Amino acid sequence: MSYTRKIVVTCSPHISSILAQEIEAMGLPVKSINRLDVETAGTMLDAMRLNLQLRTAHRVLYQLKTFSANQPDELYQAVNEYPWENQIPLDGYFSVQSYVNHPTITDTRFANLKVKDAIVDRFMQQQGRRPDSGPKSDRAVVFLYWTEEEAAVYLDTTGDSLSKRGYRETTVAAPMQESLAAAVLLSTQWQPKQPLVNPMCGSGTLAIEAALMQQNTFPGLLRDNYSFMHIKSYQSAIWRRLRQDMKLNQQSRRDAMKNIIATDSNPDAVAAAKKNARLAGVDHLIQFRVCDFGETQIPSPETKNPPTGSPIIVFNPPYGARLGEERTLTMLYGRIGDFLKQQGAGYYGYVFTANKELAKKIGLRASRRQEFLNGKLPSRLLEYELYRGSK
Ligand SMILES: C[S@@+](CC[C@H](N)C(=O)[O-])C[C@H]1O[C@@H](n2cnc3c(N)ncnc32)[C@H](O)[C@@H]1O
Repeated sequence: MSYTRKIVVTCSPHISSILAQEIEAMGLPVKSINRLDVETAGTMLDAMRLNLQLRTAHRVLYQLKTFSANQPDELYQAVNEYPWENQIPLDGYFSVQSYVNHPTITDTRFANLKVKDAIVDRFMQQQGRRPDSGPKSDRAVVFLYWTEEEAAVYLDTTGDSLSKRGYRETTVAAPMQESLAAAVLLSTQWQPKQPLVNPMCGSGTLAIEAALMQQNTFPGLLRDNYSFMHIKSYQSAIWRRLRQDMKLNQQSRRDAMKNIIATDSNPDAVAAAKKNARLAGVDHLIQFRVCDFGETQIPSPETKNPPTGSPIIVFNPPYGARLGEERTLTMLYGRIGDFLKQQGAGYYGYVFTANKELAKKIGLRASRRQEFLNGKLPSRLLEYELYRGSK
């Protein structure tokens, strides 16, 4: 279908090593792990698979051409020489996005415009007509990477970020990005056959991502539009077959375990979480309940022939520091610590929070701390090993 080329998969900070494991598990090579991406190699078919399967990625960029450019006119020239008429349909639409760190560019929009002009002029020279272009990223997307040392153009095969799975129509306060929730779960001791308890579930992102893993549903199956569908070589029959194969991988509804528990004291949050779970096709896997987190029932951990991994209790409590909230939140974090200690024997406990001071109020010794970025907020996942008995 196409050549093996460099593929760059982008992600949020602190997630690239988890993303690299996902890529390796798909049988693709990991060439480098960087702060905001992982470099691999593959064909356009591999790019499609990456879009379908990856849980922690944002975008899949398929390299078309590398070149050196010392100034914008050289950029224009190199882009104009590429046969875009083989990639973008004449009656199609494309946008240009970029990562630029070059002394001649103070505004990336200028570099994007240069690339757009170079592509449009190429079409006019070759075909006498041109495709439409604009800012929307839901059709063909060309991505420019340009730093002092190197320049490259890619097809962004994804378009709107993979993090937007499409199931989250309703949210309440401070929802977690879907790809971040998946990365958090993949950083824990949990394995899909084990119970997972998520008090303070909000709009349900952690519980839903866990259920998708348990059902072996690739998140990309929930979406029906990708940028690769808007390039010339796209063959819908291949895509349909790929989706079909992956659907066969899913656990059937009959095998549902229903050992994911999601609770929240806000009825609107639970209603939103239920609705989102239904849209994601996993509502049959999650037990929802409106209650204070302290009333959440914790199933006894399996002691005879336990599945691999560990059962977990995972919290993403509020951490806002609005005036007057401090005292309530201090008490809340203290209660979370007590709850984990008293109810969580045999589990691993996790608290994901952006507030270091409040985290201290949990009052348990963390066995591990992992950094993340939640939107713009530096956050941490704290792990607590909750022993059975009196250790
Ligand atoms: C930061 S939000 C969780 C967001 C969630 N991870 C998501 O992706 O939507 C915190 C949640 O804690 C809930 N909450 C606060 N205090 C609670 C309590 N005492 N018992 C149960 N839930 C509580 C709030 O209603 C809110 O939905």
